[in-house]
Amino acid sequence: MSVDPVLARIDSTLADSLERLKELLRIPSISTDPAFKAECDRAADWLVADLQSMGVTAEKRPTPGHPMVVGHIDGPGPHLLFYGHYDVQPVDPLDLWDNDPFDPQLEDTPKGKVLRGRGTADDKGQLMTFVEACRAWIAEHGSLPCKITFFFEGEEESGSPSLVPFLKENADELKADIALICDTGLFDSRVPAITTMLRGMLQEEITIIGPTRDLHSGMYGGAAMNPIRALSWIIAALHDENGRVTVPGFYDGVADIPDDLMQQWEALGFDHKAFLGDVGLSELSGEAGRSALEMLWSRPTCEVNGIGGGYQGEGFKTVLPSKASAKISFRLVGQQDPHAIRENLRTMVTDLTPKDCKVSFKAHGASPASVMSIDNPAFEKARVALSDEWPDEAAFIGSGGSIPVAGYFQSLLGTESMLIGFGKDDDQIHSPNEKYDIESFHKGARSWARILDALTKE
Ligand code: BES
Ligand code: MN
Ligand code: MN
Repeated sequence: MSVDPVLARIDSTLADSLERLKELLRIPSISTDPAFKAECDRAADWLVADLQSMGVTAEKRPTPGHPMVVGHIDGPGPHLLFYGHYDVQPVDPLDLWDNDPFDPQLEDTPKGKVLRGRGTADDKGQLMTFVEACRAWIAEHGSLPCKITFFFEGEEESGSPSLVPFLKENADELKADIALICDTGLFDSRVPAITTMLRGMLQEEITIIGPTRDLHSGMYGGAAMNPIRALSWIIAALHDENGRVTVPGFYDGVADIPDDLMQQWEALGFDHKAFLGDVGLSELSGEAGRSALEMLWSRPTCEVNGIGGGYQGEGFKTVLPSKASAKISFRLVGQQDPHAIRENLRTMVTDLTPKDCKVSFKAHGASPASVMSIDNPAFEKARVALSDEWPDEAAFIGSGGSIPVAGYFQSLLGTESMLIGFGKDDDQIHSPNEKYDIESFHKGARSWARILDALTKE
């Protein structure tokens, strides 16, 4: 089974592929908002039907949350497990979108043609690159060169609450020779990448309550503790003057990366001035003495993702609020233990809370960092295949994002994960006006065809 006619078919059917992707993008499968539950279901149904139309045995599998989609198709070679997620992030603030986020449009930009809409890059457009490669392969050769299990999740953007139990219950069905995950990015528009390190994640919500009700800040201010003031101390105390996180024991399990990896990363010539310049910034804000790629890929962070309390409406209200809250997340690396850090954070915050205030905590997601083992021969085969498709050689890179499923495939299925994606830094994922380059979609599908070919040839 030759890959060339498959590549030619991907080229000649690109317009149809884009129409299919647009259909999926029109379904607002926002997993975190219960109002969109039926839409998540509809996206899963769409995928089941699409897989079935290619001859894949596919079904929607219920979970306590949104359904998983599982499909199987037989073939002679190794068994590949392919993962993507069909859920998307909320669209707010909606007024910052130039178009309806769920009415995707093709657009000409100075950097090329893009498809704009929620989920174009994260992750529906990426997920469909693999599906389209398989569709073209089957259309050309009547069957695939290997056995494939498709596994699509609908809760990735909301902390994957059903994922671990589902993987445990269905481990025998899902385990494979290697898992392919398409939910990451290129290094840049010329250099494709295999992501070999992902940061973990710890999310915690903190609420400080001061007085029992909102007060007039003239009648009480000065005498009564303001919980926003207390929360500000706490947040300010989370970093020291060198940008290091101050939670006790936070750096336990964090190691410097080996010299050879450091040299590989330096050779990538990452331009942090351009990277920050794209978003209107210029100065690195992480730990003193670290390079930008270290800060992004191999160092842990603490970020305040949201903060609330007091009067936020139009105009001004001289209120001394009863309550203040913050959503705080940590990106984790190496062997950092999310649960130990959660405990240490809670103790630290409790100690910093003034006597007159009460603090409460709400736990959100927690997952450790993961590292892929690139001595698995599939990595070099895929790297060569990617390099054939893109202008420059493919690189092994790290990623600052978190994809907990990669670690769960390793630990719960015993299956190594290989992360290959075609996103770009300027795709605006999770933000208004998300887009996916048509070139990424097209070359992404071609890349997968080449990778299937490389993984199934001896
Ligand atoms: N696809 C992203 C992760 C990602 C982003 C990888 C950019 C590489 C580059 C994924 O959908 C995501 O958003 N993950 C969340 C995980 C969280 C909700 C547990 C993240 O990283 O914030
Ligand atoms: Mn994603
Ligand atoms: Mn995402």
